[in-house]
Amino acid sequence: MEHDSTPVRQLPMPRPDVCPFGPAPEYARLRAEAPVTRVACPTGLTAWLVTRYADVREALGDADRFSSRPGQVVHLMAHADPERPLAPGEFTRMDGAEYQRFRRHIGPEVSTAGRLAQLRPMVQAIIDERLDLLALTDRRAEFYHDFAVPVTTAAIGGIVGVPYEERDLFQRAGAAVFSGVTDQAGLVAAVKPLHGYLYQLLQERRAAPADDGISRMIARSDAAEQPFSDLELVSMCAIMLSAGFDTTATVLTHGLLALLAHPEELARLRADPSLVPQAIEELVRFFGGAPGIVRQATRDTRIGGQEIAAGDYLVLAIQAADRDPAAFPDPDRLDLTRGGQGHLGFGYGAHQCFGQQTARLELTVAFETLLRRVPSLRLAVPLEEVPFKTDSTVVGPAALPVAWDRIHPAAEGAAAAPAPTPGERR
Ligand code: HEM
Repeated sequence: MEHDSTPVRQLPMPRPDVCPFGPAPEYARLRAEAPVTRVACPTGLTAWLVTRYADVREALGDADRFSSRPGQVVHLMAHADPERPLAPGEFTRMDGAEYQRFRRHIGPEVSTAGRLAQLRPMVQAIIDERLDLLALTDRRAEFYHDFAVPVTTAAIGGIVGVPYEERDLFQRAGAAVFSGVTDQAGLVAAVKPLHGYLYQLLQERRAAPADDGISRMIARSDAAEQPFSDLELVSMCAIMLSAGFDTTATVLTHGLLALLAHPEELARLRADPSLVPQAIEELVRFFGGAPGIVRQATRDTRIGGQEIAAGDYLVLAIQAADRDPAAFPDPDRLDLTRGGQGHLGFGYGAHQCFGQQTARLELTVAFETLLRRVPSLRLAVPLEEVPFKTDSTVVGPAALPVAWDRIHPAAEGAAAAPAPTPGERR
């Protein structure tokens, strides 16, 4: 199919300089006037940019017509090649039954109500310890690096079973995987040590199982009809570790910034902390999936009335879709009681975020605890001076200087019955 007559726009859209919370204003115009339009991406990929909620949801929800094979963010990553062969265990680029085999294997570690109930005290302890450390400082810190990243790093390490001392390995790998600037050689250099470490850990856990995610994944694999190879198990753990900290740390930081910039919404939350779980949904609607997700058409088809040829790439602009007034009234207003039902911030359909229940748990416990233990938390610089990441596809603040008067001890005013997250309620 020829696309010659369709104008091609350039991605990424310029960052808004008026509002630190929105997708580029250009997305609103596209949604109204050219909801499926051709774009040239920084990696050289030419794709259809899809911006309306209904169309993005339809494409994410139909894995038969829209394959994940290219990779999720190949439109922005310098090392990405949508046509490279699949590596063993690279489940994020698989479809159908091949993919489901992996999804079923990891699910029990991150999404069952029982597992989440086990994880909550671990997450609470990580957050309390981090605040205890900050309480020893001079009442100023950089929230993203001093709180958000250490907390989410410790949490995903604890979920998989990798000690905090080894965090450098997966922080480096994660930064390279989600980088917009690291090339293929840089990616390999960053990921290889993590794979080597995990391979070694796998052998140790095979010989002497522990009470951790990696040991349970080995046991489930051994009992499965089609056991996983060591390389596949290593890859699953590496993907979880790499995907599971900066995403949540960034939403936590961006979310805190949004709350501090909307004092009336923050006051609602303080007055009624049981609103935290629904506030999290609104924050994920606001900030989740910001870089957009790539799919490839498996056959000639249509989306939003536009003809799409087999083999064409699509960039599904999740954040723009979640700001579609047809789906969310007054979509650019942060409304913590909106509930955000049906948002696409964690994706939708077969590949929707594996870690969404653990992300919800971490965000909920973090905000509940910050409200309770650090009620005086505030920005230490004007809003306009908060820097944003430019080298990562995980979009959000690069640093968030904050200050406070006092961090209350963990035991003081501890909630008798914290609000359960949607995953825990099941
Ligand atoms: C607020 C934090 C997070 C956000 C906004 C987020 C967002 C997303 C989105 C939009 C996708 C869909 C990709 C697609 O459709 O191709 C995704 C997939 C994924 N997420 Fe998350 N995520 C978050 C936290 C986490 C955490 C904590 C983990 C690990 C525990 C995790 C692990 C994954 C994995 C492994 C995938 C790939 C799923 C697949 O392709 O099968 N994420 N995430």
